[in-house]
Amino acid sequence: MGFVGVRMGGVWCAIFMVVGVISVSQAQLSPTFYDQTCPNVTDIVSSVLQSAAQSDPRIGASLIRLHFHDCFVQGCDASILLNNSATIVSEQGALGNNNSIRGLDVVNNIKSALESSCPNTVSCADVLAIAAEVSVVLAGGPSWTIQLGRRDSLTANQTLANANLPSPFFNLTQLKQNFTSQGLDTTDLVALSGAHTFGRSQCRFFDNRLYNFNGDGNPDSTLNTTFLATLRQLCPQSEVGRNTNLTNLDLTTPDTFDLNYYSNLQQNNGLLNSDQVLFSTSDADTIPIVNNFSANRTAFFEAFAASMIKMGNISPLTGSQGEIRTQCNLVNGASSSSGLIMGGGVESQDHMVSSI
Ligand code: HEM
Ligand SMILES: *[C@@H]1O[C@H](CO)[C@@H](O)[C@H](O)[C@H]1NC(C)=O
Ligand SMILES: *[C@@H]1O[C@H](CO)[C@@H](O)[C@H](O)[C@H]1NC(C)=O
Ligand SMILES: *[C@@H]1O[C@H](CO)[C@@H](O)[C@H](O)[C@H]1NC(C)=O
Ligand SMILES: *[C@@H]1O[C@H](CO)[C@@H](O)[C@H](O)[C@H]1NC(C)=O
Ligand SMILES: *[C@@H]1O[C@H](CO)[C@@H](O)[C@H](O)[C@H]1NC(C)=O
Ligand SMILES: *[C@@H]1O[C@H](CO)[C@@H](O)[C@H](O)[C@H]1NC(C)=O
Ligand SMILES: *[C@@H]1O[C@H](CO)[C@@H](O)[C@H](O)[C@H]1NC(C)=O
Ligand SMILES: *[C@@H]1O[C@H](CO)[C@@H](O)[C@H](O)[C@H]1NC(C)=O
Ligand SMILES: *[C@@H]1O[C@H](CO)[C@@H](O)[C@H](O)[C@H]1NC(C)=O
Ligand SMILES: *[C@@H]1O[C@H](CO)[C@@H](O)[C@H](O)[C@H]1NC(C)=O
Repeated sequence: MGFVGVRMGGVWCAIFMVVGVISVSQAQLSPTFYDQTCPNVTDIVSSVLQSAAQSDPRIGASLIRLHFHDCFVQGCDASILLNNSATIVSEQGALGNNNSIRGLDVVNNIKSALESSCPNTVSCADVLAIAAEVSVVLAGGPSWTIQLGRRDSLTANQTLANANLPSPFFNLTQLKQNFTSQGLDTTDLVALSGAHTFGRSQCRFFDNRLYNFNGDGNPDSTLNTTFLATLRQLCPQSEVGRNTNLTNLDLTTPDTFDLNYYSNLQQNNGLLNSDQVLFSTSDADTIPIVNNFSANRTAFFEAFAASMIKMGNISPLTGSQGEIRTQCNLVNGASSSSGLIMGGGVESQDHMVSSI
């Protein structure tokens, strides 16, 4: 409903305009959503996550990435968690996910624990949002107020996942385009890329930079030569494009959530092309933001928290939309047999070949 005051002949006339018939009240996310129905939801998530981290120090990084890849495809609706079925072509098979995402089993363990304490209450989409925040805090990063009340989708869209998930080979223009499509601005892009302060990447996502970057037989000139030598040992030329060897995204402090991601960029030590372009693209508006976050931990942490909340708000299902899934990999009432349907997804192996 719009209110417009119009001055006419010295008299104020109020004109109330009903804009269309869009009176469906859109329920909002809220930090207190589970206060009555599952008061210690965050403790339960945290407790399962901490025990998983004992045997897998990388799990927090893998879980925040799941939330990101969920939110960029149909909004934060746990669509990424749906397995192949008669009606679902899983997003897990999309280019940015296949043989790369991790942590689906831990999400299922968290969901099981929640079903024991508060059955049919907490959505899988909210599990991903909570796990993302808890993971950052456990790694030494900022905390933020987690908005809750998302519901789970009845659908997934692998085609959309292929179109929406940014590639590590993208330049700055392409990265900005994909973030803008989600309502995220340049500051969000630089802040959220700071999640590469922890976790790992396979050689196949950056080894195009190491030998013949522009078809002229030279490596990427924006890659530090010392780092280049190290990466060439891990990622031989004979395997370019298909090498699953792992290395740390953050060269200096691989498992800590800190601002060193940005000082790495200033020293040409960004691992992915999509990281380094934030600092090395001529005259880019991202350079002063990198310099700011590199010099000021508070600025980075505040911006990261704000951008995570913004990303977590992308097109959630709320109210009576969607459902609360009982099992995160399955729409309620569907059969669990994944059968022989094509286009499935494969989780990444987690074997760190060498830390050189
Ligand atoms: C800006 C565009 C982005 C691109 C192109 C990108 C690309 C990638 C790639 C290629 C990997 C390595 C995956 C593998 O080797 O299997 C990765 C890992 C990771 N990404 Fe991103 N990413 C981007 C933004 C983000 C955002 C916004 C977040 C979270 C807020 C994020 C969090 C992570 C984390 C934590 C890892 C490590 C995962 C693990 O160790 O399992 N990334 N990313
Ligand atoms: C959840 O809350 C109950 C009651 O306050 C408490 O006994 C239990 O330990 C909590 N669970 C977790 C995992 O923190
Ligand atoms: C997936 O998304 C695309 C692009 O929005 C749309 O054209 C297509 O109909 C969707 N497919 C499914 C199965 O929802
Ligand atoms: C980014 O890549 C696109 C597609 O290859 C190209 O058209 C564009 O000129 C590139 N932009 C920059 C800044 O390099
Ligand atoms: C993401 O960027 C690529 C490269 O510019 C583009 O082809 C694709 O359409 C973009 N997707 C969205 C949703 O912005
Ligand atoms: C993985 O890295 C090691 C060095 O740590 C290297 O010897 C090996 O050839 C690499 N494997 C592949 C498939 O490239
Ligand atoms: C390369 O990285 C090292 C630290 O790893 C740094 O001291 C050096 O200044 C960097 N070189 C360039 C050209 O950025
Ligand atoms: C660091 O960033 C914070 C938050 O933006 C700001 O309040 C503070 O003044 C900055 N500190 C410096 C030294 O610039
Ligand atoms: C640094 O980043 C913070 C957080 O985004 C922002 O408030 C501040 O204005 C920035 N400072 C500069 C000098 O860009
Ligand atoms: C979903 O697929 C994974 C393997 O990709 C499997 O471990 C899991 O059991 C499946 N979930 C269901 C409910 O079928
Ligand atoms: C995902 O990777 C597996 C194993 O590498 C492959 O068999 C499958 O075809 C891929 N899925 C898609 C949809 O590309």
